Amino acid sequence: MNEVFLFLEALPLPLALGALSLVGSLGVLGFTLRWSWRSLRHLDAERARHERSVIAERERVAVLETQAERSWAGYRKFQVVGRTEEDSFGNMATFRIKPFSLPSIDLAVSRATHRIPKQALLELPTFKAGQYLQIRVDLPGEANLLSRCYSLSEVDSGGAYQITVGRVPGAIDPVTHMTYPPGVVSSYLLDRVSERTVLDVTIPQGDFHLNEADLGPAVLVGWGIHAVPLICMFESIARSTSSREAYLFLEITNDDDLHTLLAPILKMAENDPKGRLRIWLSFAHGETNTEKVSRRLPKVSSEEEPETEGRVTFREGRQAVAWIKREVPKHFSTSAEFYVSGAALLLREAKHDLEAWGVSPEKVHFEVFDRESLDAIAEPEASGVSKVTFDVAGKSADWDPDHRNLLGLAASVKVRIPSTCKIGKCGECEVSLVNGRVRYAKDPDWKVKPGHCLPCVATPASATLVLGA
Ligand code: FES
Repeated sequence: MNEVFLFLEALPLPLALGALSLVGSLGVLGFTLRWSWRSLRHLDAERARHERSVIAERERVAVLETQAERSWAGYRKFQVVGRTEEDSFGNMATFRIKPFSLPSIDLAVSRATHRIPKQALLELPTFKAGQYLQIRVDLPGEANLLSRCYSLSEVDSGGAYQITVGRVPGAIDPVTHMTYPPGVVSSYLLDRVSERTVLDVTIPQGDFHLNEADLGPAVLVGWGIHAVPLICMFESIARSTSSREAYLFLEITNDDDLHTLLAPILKMAENDPKGRLRIWLSFAHGETNTEKVSRRLPKVSSEEEPETEGRVTFREGRQAVAWIKREVPKHFSTSAEFYVSGAALLLREAKHDLEAWGVSPEKVHFEVFDRESLDAIAEPEASGVSKVTFDVAGKSADWDPDHRNLLGLAASVKVRIPSTCKIGKCGECEVSLVNGRVRYAKDPDWKVKPGHCLPCVATPASATLVLGA
């Protein structure tokens, strides 16, 4: 530095001042360049950090969207991607349905943009063996949207649910003599729905599923198409590594049921190395060609020649608890869980006979598909007078068990409460419980909001009852 000053001293004054100014400018320029360089590097780092956070945020949103796609409230659009006829009369078919909002093009874009594994986008909520979906349709001529429940038989790795639909014929209850018309939704699905049809579908739901906390024996008792949830349970136990025993008593109504309902599980029972799976089949109708049926079964024994060691046994006649008692070990009355799914008559008899056998009601689970079945397992009404007030409509009525439930009572005084399933599964009729208490014949599948009730399955449980309807 001293040399610089000596050098400047030796220069004429104007030249020295110019040189001094040049040195200063060069210093400022160097400082500015260094500062700019640092700023640019800082900006680059900031930009990179920002881009990283934007990508992270996009991925977070995409994951949330994916989770939202996997679970949804209410109904979501699904498209039929496959239909298989299960009988020769068009009375039973299996449908594969996939979410409609994730066409393959969206999948590809989502995966590329957010680097989400394909499987994550395809996955649907899993379900417990025995659960069902609700399908809602808008039928011409019907004042309201109609929804019905269909048991899930499978969810496959391609992201599709599978349900099997059977035609519901009209019926007359032999005990109450009430007439039930044929199922309009099952008829619509079987007669009009094909590949590409879009349907409104809920997430899997329902309390009728295997009790996974108890690995005691499971006795599954079913009738025809209503046995779909039981077959799913049987399959689930067969596939598990537990030592849980499964006994399936199935009443079939026609030869086609053999193929539809049993083909997947007959082999499982036959090949079960631990011998914990048993199937008993019965035909309700004596006119069935039993020889033909027997030929289609891998190993059967008739009732006259019981083959107790056989894993698939065939008999003629209706399902009855008396028969079940003969076939299962004695301790089952206290150790087993019973799952019953079928027509009203089977449910009514099973409820009565299992109770008479000493089976605890907590160990018996019923699946109901219609009003008729629900009535069959309803506890008898407690006597007593109740006055029910419909607060919004400003009307009141005395409770009369002939109305069967609060929805029926509301209709009798022209109070309109929207309803769809009428068996406590869809939540459509939910109203606020302003005052008083209600009771349910069977705990509804629908999760009722606190302070609310489902009039379609509720009856009064207090002397006065006020509903927000
Ligand atoms: S109508 Fe579906 S829960 Fe009452």
